[in-house]
Amino acid sequence: MGAIKCIGILTSGGDAPGMNAAIRAVTRTAIYNGFKVKGIMRGYKGLITGEIIDFTSSSVSNIIQKGGTILKTARCPEFREAEGRQQAYENMCKAEIDALVVIGGDGTITGAQTLAREFDVPIVALPGTIDNDLSGTDSTIGYDTALNTIMEAVDKLRDTATSHERLFFMEVMGNTAGYLALNGALASGAEAAIIPEMETETDQLKNLIDNGFRKSKNSAIVLVAENPATGGAMGLAERVKKEFPQYDARVTILGHLQRGGSPTASDRILASRLGAAAIAALKDGQRNVMIGIHNMEMVYVPFSKALGRSKQVNKDKVELVKILSI
Ligand code: F6P
Repeated sequence: MGAIKCIGILTSGGDAPGMNAAIRAVTRTAIYNGFKVKGIMRGYKGLITGEIIDFTSSSVSNIIQKGGTILKTARCPEFREAEGRQQAYENMCKAEIDALVVIGGDGTITGAQTLAREFDVPIVALPGTIDNDLSGTDSTIGYDTALNTIMEAVDKLRDTATSHERLFFMEVMGNTAGYLALNGALASGAEAAIIPEMETETDQLKNLIDNGFRKSKNSAIVLVAENPATGGAMGLAERVKKEFPQYDARVTILGHLQRGGSPTASDRILASRLGAAAIAALKDGQRNVMIGIHNMEMVYVPFSKALGRSKQVNKDKVELVKILSI
């Protein structure tokens, strides 16, 4: 491919608050630097079906405060097939798009990695997922907003948990990672976090009961990361019924509520900085990198590293949650 004149932008996979702020930053920084911008609707699906629209500066007016994504999003099994990617590449060429900025999580970056390898397309990715499960970046767009949503939900649940003196399991998202559960527990003062990362190390439910969470309190809220392997919060409540019938356990599943809402200041700032850095990266000849934030600085992370699961939750925080809830 020759010099980049036109940049296509898409959001893919699960939406995350702050995606719109990122779309705005990418679009306006690109236009400021003399590039044309095209918006691709519905993620990789729109590349395959050719749903591509010209973007101007006003296309992204009044969106920084909005949750969701104005470009829509989708999960796109067709893009996992070679035929789908061929069609996507042909539509990209037809629309005269020379480079892509993709915003999403691990599935989005996996798709970008394959497309870049097969067709030599310059692609820069931005980490957009509430799960915070991409390596090479301290945070992802949407994670902070989702954490705040969880915190507010626990604050509310606390009222009824205390009144009825009950044990509550609140299930939060996270894909296969425990960032939302663990940091949500720290932020809300929950009594424990049960996360997939500790699953094989210890029986987290038994520990909770053995540690006598009722020593000083009559109620507890436990944040449970979704985990199909154990059945998440429902699975734990079932176990309590059978193994610890003396407890009156209840389940709350926060679900997709965690993906909505106006992004926090922190997510808007992160998205704006990452979006601008994506254009700087393309100008700089970078390709096949995700832009991340590390120690407050923008960093370029190769796709393979971003997907490599080298980032680990800080397991010391599990103990901290326990200490702080005595
Ligand atoms: O990756 C974001 C996420 O919200 C995960 O936390 C969750 O497991 C998944 O997406 C849910 O996906 P869907 O919206 O397709 O149900």
